[in-house]
Amino acid sequence: MKIAIIGTGYVGLPTGVGLAELGNEVCCVDKIKEKISALNAGELTLYEDGLEELFKKNVKAGRLSFTTSMAKAVIGADVVLLAVGTPPHPETKEADLQYIYAAAKELAQYLDGYTVIATKSTVPVGTGDEIEEIVRKVSPQADFDVISLPEFLREGFAIHDFFHPDRIVVGANSSKACEVMKQLYAPFEGKTEFLWVKRRSSEAIKYASNAFLAMKIHYINEMANFCEKAGADINEVAKGMGTDSRIGNKFLNAGPGYGGSCFPKDTNAMAQMARKYGVRLNLIETTIAKNDERKAEMAERVIAKIKNNPQGKIAVLGLAFKGGTDDCRESPAMDILKELLKHSNNIAVYDPKAMQNAEKLLGNQVMYAKDVYEACDEAEILVILTEWEEFRNLDLHRIRGLMKAHKIVDLRNMLNADAVKKSGFDYSCIGMNS
Ligand code: UDX
Repeated sequence: MKIAIIGTGYVGLPTGVGLAELGNEVCCVDKIKEKISALNAGELTLYEDGLEELFKKNVKAGRLSFTTSMAKAVIGADVVLLAVGTPPHPETKEADLQYIYAAAKELAQYLDGYTVIATKSTVPVGTGDEIEEIVRKVSPQADFDVISLPEFLREGFAIHDFFHPDRIVVGANSSKACEVMKQLYAPFEGKTEFLWVKRRSSEAIKYASNAFLAMKIHYINEMANFCEKAGADINEVAKGMGTDSRIGNKFLNAGPGYGGSCFPKDTNAMAQMARKYGVRLNLIETTIAKNDERKAEMAERVIAKIKNNPQGKIAVLGLAFKGGTDDCRESPAMDILKELLKHSNNIAVYDPKAMQNAEKLLGNQVMYAKDVYEACDEAEILVILTEWEEFRNLDLHRIRGLMKAHKIVDLRNMLNADAVKKSGFDYSCIGMNS
């Protein structure tokens, strides 16, 4: 099939590469010229595990191309996927749909033959109706359907998730569009669950899922606060809860609060959308407020540990909003660092992938270390903010030799508390009286 993808971000690019790998002819379009030039020169514009190999393979095979021309991408396409950003409005926190509207208006001019316009971007319930109206207004004669095709890819695991989805949700009010989707997703037939639902339900599923996961993280973080006071161990409690299949063992890792380009944005958008319908989503509103507070509380824990020596060097490991990605958007690490910077101008940071993106946000306020050990050199305290696997196996002996004082604040529970304490560190983590 011929597919046009509008937007080459964390959703559009991995989806385009995945669909090309399935044998489709995919053309990705983006307004940002530099991005398209880089992609056409064979350079990836974002880091995703496993993306590069498939990207190169499919470009070489002639199944994957990139352009700034909407006409080139859309003319002759069977399916047009909308994967543009829906960032939060700075004041209202509602999803800002300007890029969706602009893309719909532009693509409408080039529709020829029956086309399915599928929204992959996370959009408020009812946006499909608006897109339909916009396209109809621009091209009254066009033969098309607008469907909702929500994306559940996790950053850092986008390629894995593309090929192993938990489910494929298709929100369509037309059986003709469903037939096209059956053809597009035929390789997944029998391997995953398909949900054929109303377009509005599909739009709601995406928000309801992300808000639930955010709430689950907030829940385990509150339990961690409780465990710290009650002498229980959150890791054991989470394991005990997670073995109940009704609860499930995923998203029960206590930490410094959730971040990223989706959860903060989508929980806010969901709460605002519901308010417009006159519904208060109290659980979600509390989750948002408490998650924001949590990051300041985490910074306080670090500051309390260095109050006797505020000039002492702080070594920070992890800047990305989670392990496996170079993305620092809405990263709890960034929020915590901003708080720490109010108290210290002696901070060294290290992240395996996110140094460049972090530098754009932090500038010269911190020192950028080439590895864990350079960050720890002469440090008073070591703080772990992102769950990178490589932080699990730190050479504690070497770190002890490098540091001036021997304090570790592990906000991702990456280290083995007993082993760290045995190595002579003052160790604190989340959800246990360490
Ligand atoms: C999320 C959704 O999971 C995905 O389905 C959707 O399509 C996009 O948004 P992503 O933003 O890539 O994916 O990250 P995710 O893995 O969900 O983590 C989000 C945040 O929650 C991170 O800051 C992470 O560190 C935090 N988190 C996650 C926890 O603190 N504890 C957990 O147990 C899980």
